Amino acid sequence: MDTQDIKMHFRQMAQGALSLNVAYIGVVNGLFNALHDLGSATAKQLAQNSSMDERYVTRWCDAAYAFHYLDVTAEAFCLTPTGQAMRATAQDTLMPIAVQSVLSAHMAERAAGLMRTGERPGESVLAERDTVLPWFGPMLEASFSTLFEQTICPAIPEFSAVDKRGGLAVDLGCGNGWYLRALVRRCSHLRGLGMDGFAENIDQARRLAENQGVGDKLMFVQGDIHQMTLDEPADLIAMNRALHHVWEKDAPTLFRWLHDNLKPGGYAVVWEPAWPDTRSVLREPGRSGMAFQNLTEHVQGNHFLRPEEISNAFLAAGMPAKVYLFAKGSEAVVVAQRPE
Ligand SMILES: C[S@@+](CC[C@H](N)C(=O)[O-])C[C@H]1O[C@@H](n2cnc3c(N)ncnc32)[C@H](O)[C@@H]1O
Repeated sequence: MDTQDIKMHFRQMAQGALSLNVAYIGVVNGLFNALHDLGSATAKQLAQNSSMDERYVTRWCDAAYAFHYLDVTAEAFCLTPTGQAMRATAQDTLMPIAVQSVLSAHMAERAAGLMRTGERPGESVLAERDTVLPWFGPMLEASFSTLFEQTICPAIPEFSAVDKRGGLAVDLGCGNGWYLRALVRRCSHLRGLGMDGFAENIDQARRLAENQGVGDKLMFVQGDIHQMTLDEPADLIAMNRALHHVWEKDAPTLFRWLHDNLKPGGYAVVWEPAWPDTRSVLREPGRSGMAFQNLTEHVQGNHFLRPEEISNAFLAAGMPAKVYLFAKGSEAVVVAQRPE
């Protein structure tokens, strides 16, 4: 590639980021949904219907038209197929890509500044953008629930084993509770307790469980994983993308807690992005994003883990573990059983 080609290539990448920025504004303000419901509408009607400022919505409609999310006839806008796919409720929604893109920009800006001092502010960085925080749960749900329901849950025999036992499933760092909702749909003999540090996540988890008819089986509490106490030992304790958030503080104590709070024969199931053994793997398609995310995890006091580190930590706590790999090895589910 000569210099002009390289410039063209980078301009195209920048256009991609702009397109996702435009989509993000429409996602978090319900504009795609509102226009879907209206069928077609002027900017003024769209603003009224979505309770947004008309002048902002007018500018947004122009931008969304420019990036092919909207078409227009006279002054009436309607969604293109890509605009339809940005709706959070659309099948295979594009919403998480738009949310992730803006969250990444926020985290990149924070990492750039914090690198100068080495400060690591922790989880609170996620809550610095009012419009992002409520979309954190839906973004993760849309990104991972299908993989869990269609691939991971059927492939791991310990899920059906624990369903036969029945009892309590605990999800530490539960986000919006999607995992427990999916789990009790598939494993009908389980009931669930989810906990998370963010009140926003717990509010969403309670509301979604009610709306989806599993509110009587699921309970959600706000709290800190390091302070968590259970009223009864669990049959399953899950952590999805949550272990790396608490690993650096005191992993040995956490793994002893997992052991001590499971019934004999109960399972701990930890799902984490699988940090590769060799750096060159980070250049494989789909892995470079993980390398960027690991930089932004550093801001939060976290880092990604190699699956072997997790299974060794279980072993040290007296629980032999198995590693299951998914998504071409980029997702690891480590399952450990408390001995009978
Ligand atoms: C990457 S998110 C994963 C959320 C959810 N498990 C999922 O798969 O969608 C990590 C979650 O862990 C929670 N978390 C991190 N540290 C925590 C702590 N010390 N106590 C409680 N929750 C914590 C965060 O609030 C966040 O919701």
